[in-house]
Amino acid sequence: MASISLRGISKRFGDVEALKELDLDIQDGEFLSLLGPSGCGKTTTLRLVAGLEEPTAGDVYMGEERVTDLAPADRDIAMVFQLFALYPYMTIRENIAFPLRAQGVRAAETRKRVDAVAELLGIEALLSLGPAQVHPADGQRVAIAKAIVREPRVFLFDEPLSQLDAHMRSRMRAELKHLHDTVGRTTLFVTHDQAEGLAISDRIGVMRQGELVQLGTPEEIFHRPTDRYVAEFVGTPPINLFEAEVCERDGARALRVGGVEMRLGEPLHTAGVDAQWGKLESVTVGVRPRYVDLGSRGEGEAALPGVVEVVEPTGRDTLLHVRLTEHADRGETGSFPSQGKAGMESGGSSDATTRCLVARAAAPPEGAEVALSFRPEHVLLFHPETGAAL
Ligand SMILES: Nc1ncnc2c1ncn2[C@@H]1O[C@H](COP(=O)(O)OP(=O)(O)OP(=O)(O)O)[C@@H](O)[C@H]1O
Ligand SMILES: [Mg+2]
Repeated sequence: MASISLRGISKRFGDVEALKELDLDIQDGEFLSLLGPSGCGKTTTLRLVAGLEEPTAGDVYMGEERVTDLAPADRDIAMVFQLFALYPYMTIRENIAFPLRAQGVRAAETRKRVDAVAELLGIEALLSLGPAQVHPADGQRVAIAKAIVREPRVFLFDEPLSQLDAHMRSRMRAELKHLHDTVGRTTLFVTHDQAEGLAISDRIGVMRQGELVQLGTPEEIFHRPTDRYVAEFVGTPPINLFEAEVCERDGARALRVGGVEMRLGEPLHTAGVDAQWGKLESVTVGVRPRYVDLGSRGEGEAALPGVVEVVEPTGRDTLLHVRLTEHADRGETGSFPSQGKAGMESGGSSDATTRCLVARAAAPPEGAEVALSFRPEHVLLFHPETGAAL
């Protein structure tokens, strides 16, 4: 068994509380990514699992075994770092073979195993070269080969792709995923690149200031974030946030955003919304750019009028930055009472534009007047103060 469990792990460095009572279970054979901004404790978590740091409190288990006091060499773990280290005066073959030699594996067996991992990673042609002669992306591949040749129970990766250019990064990401599917070892992968985390993982743990904020599948993290922090951290382009007043319309729950009222459909009658609805005067509404529907003015009922300020082609899709204009100034969607309020407030984020991702062919030009709307099933609601998902 190579499951890993962290139980109540705290880690202090002087005054810095790097980890705060962290509980985390990584299943046998799982690919789990830790995702979060710089300084949130990702590397510290990895180093604790590897045995390179001692916890201030709490325990680390591998399977049923408590390994908190076990030396790194006795944990049967391989770690690959952002900056790989190869011995400069050894060939690539000797570099990969080094951990086996250190374990006293016989020469014939070593040769066989090095050949096998080299084939797996597509670096057979590099085996006789020196480290200085290989491209950095290949160097990282060699570092991975060196880590897996021992066939450890657990792999730890600390931003192993961050030094590579975008193209190589995407290729290596696919290769790592393939490698995991082939070798099937428990893998803990650290990244601050949310797209990488979403692409590669069975589950993702999103961290903030030494705490695990959410643990779930990429699907759960993206579509059902536990709070506003996760919603904002995950997804490109980033989610749109609006402050909305809570109201009723024809006896049904509704939201008033910038003077426009939108009725909440069935999907928002979740237990969380039901429990909190009566107590809140406002909520934060989150809508991902992909789910902002674009009409021209006058169409549709509850649409937010705006002007296209920036048009950013991104290939198949086009990203529009739309400045919302105050509803009260406009007459044409006037089925709702005007609030006479200032225009839109974008929740927390400083830019007041709304991002919409539309098909290239459907993109209006800069300066176009548009009307934005979104379907209730694509709306996320957050508590206006705590940011917790309703
Ligand atoms: N050896 C150390 N001595 C003092 N403080 C440390 C040490 N290692 C980590 N820290 C602090 O602990 C916190 C968590 O650091 P950690 O390296 O785990 O973050 P991270 O999530 O890996 O960040 P990054 O994305 O920048 O690599 C930070 O505030 C960091 O400054
Ligand atoms: Mg780190």
